[in-house]
Amino acid sequence: MQRRPRRNRKSESVRNLVEETSVSVKDLIFPLFLIEGQKKQVEVNSMPGIYRYSIDLMLKEIEECMKLGIMSFDVFPAYPESLKDQIASESYNPETFYLKALKEIKRKFPELCLMSDVAMDPYSSDGHDGLVKNGKILNDETLAILGKMSLAQAEVGVDILGPSDMMDGRVGYIRNLLDENGFKETSIMSYTAKYASAFYGPFRDALDSAPKFGDKKTYQMNPANSREALIEADLDLEEGADFLMVKPALSYLDIIKLLSDNYPVPIAAYNVSGEYSMVKAAAANDWLDSERAMLEILLSIKRSGAKIILTYFAKEFARLQK
Ligand code: PBG
Repeated sequence: MQRRPRRNRKSESVRNLVEETSVSVKDLIFPLFLIEGQKKQVEVNSMPGIYRYSIDLMLKEIEECMKLGIMSFDVFPAYPESLKDQIASESYNPETFYLKALKEIKRKFPELCLMSDVAMDPYSSDGHDGLVKNGKILNDETLAILGKMSLAQAEVGVDILGPSDMMDGRVGYIRNLLDENGFKETSIMSYTAKYASAFYGPFRDALDSAPKFGDKKTYQMNPANSREALIEADLDLEEGADFLMVKPALSYLDIIKLLSDNYPVPIAAYNVSGEYSMVKAAAANDWLDSERAMLEILLSIKRSGAKIILTYFAKEFARLQK
């Protein structure tokens, strides 16, 4: 035998030399769930190890994560039904607990990178990402609401806005509005190829944000399609997105690769709630090793072409690196 591929696997030092991909804590964004009040920390049932925090405890959690090297966070609010309405008006109420919390986080930790979702669902009594009329999700009417929400978030110091609603034209609409109002430095990480996925289940538990009727298939993409992701990516780039995101990650590694091969901007992937819960549920049964599964998952997302990974594993990963 002339060729023996096993020679390059013979020891850890040699394996390290030939290793092509690695994940760094610098690549990670840690999603966090916020609830109103003080001294509250409630575990999400379907996501062992992940909590909803009130702002005081969230600041502590962020501080702890920063000591582990995590510098980027994506904060999601859980609103009680009583504060939801059809037009998501709480999303741009300057006195709302979410916007006040974002401001507090940036005041306390100006050096961290703060990301926030732009979509109506956490604030909408219909539980949809867009405005509902007669059972339909209205595209252009939704843009105005997303615009107000974006300005309110930029105002309190959010570094990266993440439009996750999948309405047409929203990136350009938001970009123009930000520029007109002096927020030229506020970045946009577009949820470019966001699929109508079963893997968002635990997240909707965490926020009590499941749609009240129907599903999200008229705006989120069909899991059967890949070429459509190129249309979305073209538009988002043209409209001014700084990053393109693929979501979920694991069942869509081909889409990550497709976008990373074709677009020069950084590609992000959202390793979503259901992907986290699957690993945790299997590990709780001793069916697999959670730590090894996590490392393999993060590596595969990186290998497929994502530079940035939004993941609930961020803290666990960071702890392992210490
Ligand atoms: C809201 C939003 C969702 C997620 C991020 N932003 C859920 C959805 O679209 O229904 C999912 C994240 C996860 O599952 O971890 N627009």
